[in-house]
Amino acid sequence: MASPDKARPDDRTPADLMPVLHTAGILGDRALDDIRARVARGEYPSAPDALADRLVRDQLITAYQAKRLLAGKAYGLVVGRYVILDRIGSGSMGRVYKAHHQMMDRVVALKIIAPEIASNERVVARFQREMKLVGRLDHPNVVRAFDADRANRVLYIVMEYVQGESLGDRLKRGPVPAPEMIDYAAQAALGLAHAHAQGMVHRDVKPSNILVDQDRKVKILDLGLGVLMEADDGATFATADGIAVGTVDYMSPEQALGKDVDGRSDLFSLGCAMYHLMTGKLAFPGASPIDRLGRRINNPPVPIVEHIPDFPAAAQRVLDKLMAFKPQDRYANATEASEALQALIRPRARKPAPAPPAEPAPPPAQAPSAPTVPAPPSYPRWFKPLAAMAAGRPGLLLAATLAAFALTFAAGAAVGYLVK
Ligand SMILES: Nc1ncnc2c1ncn2[C@@H]1O[C@H](COP(=O)(O)OP(=O)(O)OP(=O)(O)O)[C@@H](O)[C@H]1O
Ligand SMILES: [Mg+2]
Repeated sequence: MASPDKARPDDRTPADLMPVLHTAGILGDRALDDIRARVARGEYPSAPDALADRLVRDQLITAYQAKRLLAGKAYGLVVGRYVILDRIGSGSMGRVYKAHHQMMDRVVALKIIAPEIASNERVVARFQREMKLVGRLDHPNVVRAFDADRANRVLYIVMEYVQGESLGDRLKRGPVPAPEMIDYAAQAALGLAHAHAQGMVHRDVKPSNILVDQDRKVKILDLGLGVLMEADDGATFATADGIAVGTVDYMSPEQALGKDVDGRSDLFSLGCAMYHLMTGKLAFPGASPIDRLGRRINNPPVPIVEHIPDFPAAAQRVLDKLMAFKPQDRYANATEASEALQALIRPRARKPAPAPPAEPAPPPAQAPSAPTVPAPPSYPRWFKPLAAMAAGRPGLLLAATLAAFALTFAAGAAVGYLVK
């Protein structure tokens, strides 16, 4: 199996598209028979260009597949159980394709590691070890990996396909406004925190490995592939696919010096990526990769206010802490870094105050309590009308009582007088 884009010297437009289509293996037997029958009946044109156009229009093949078939390149359009639909991009490690898993009817991104790298057995062994860890990652800010394999010497990794744009591509349209970038970095730090918690260090955090989807959700790319650079002692990355390694611009000093790295190295890289994305300039500039590496080992970054004079001091402090030379001067972990970044854009969203010491459980929730009214004494039934009058009209009751006394007194006096 060959990498889909390797040109062959004998490439030429085929006289008949059907054998190439058959060899490509991108359509099932029934679909091929149907196309043949339509060509025979004259419903489909037989000329290769016209037939390819028609198949694209009827969504039986993609424009990318058509282009390759017309160039006579039938090979490489099927990788393992995946049919290549389109080419997405390429980098120092290989090429990324949009692909389709037929049985699961799932569109994925498939990264084929450059053959120069995949032929290094040390790299392959490292890849296989790392993919076991990558398979465990499950976080909204990390691109999910579904599958990884080596089929006929083609080493590939299959990922969730994210409709969006990498920040590397975004930068080509100009710098990213600081508040937007700080939000992306806070999300990226959460994704990194998840990977770090699984014992993985990214080692290659850079704008092209940070994807932003249509809802502005960030997804970290290429986790588990950073170690391949280290396993590649033959330095084929520098030449793979003819593209020079660009990662030195975001590399931490300890990584550049070949020391052991932990999650704090990724924080340094995230800071460098943020700096570059907000300013369009490198934090550690220099004429050559060696100059730029040397600069981060011997000098602090160029103050960001040289590029953005009104850059807020609080944000500058966070950025400086991310890019501190010594790992112990950076945030202790990516979760802390994410919180510091979030606090810049949502300053009032403070951490909740520590919970007070445990107290007895509150009584079950009730309707807001009404002002307490003492329960009425239990009077005999005959006295209740009087009691009610005493409560409601005390003056009237007093007058009635006095009148009753006066009447009783007068009646007594009258009886006494008569008896005499
Ligand atoms: N899962 C994915 N979903 C959608 N697009 C992707 C996915 N993975 C990669 N891409 C796209 O493919 C492009 C190429 O990715 P690739 O990782 O090969 O390049 P890179 O990051 O520039 O280089 P490197 O090989 O050093 O990582 C990316 O810029 C991105 O736009
Ligand atoms: Mg990448």
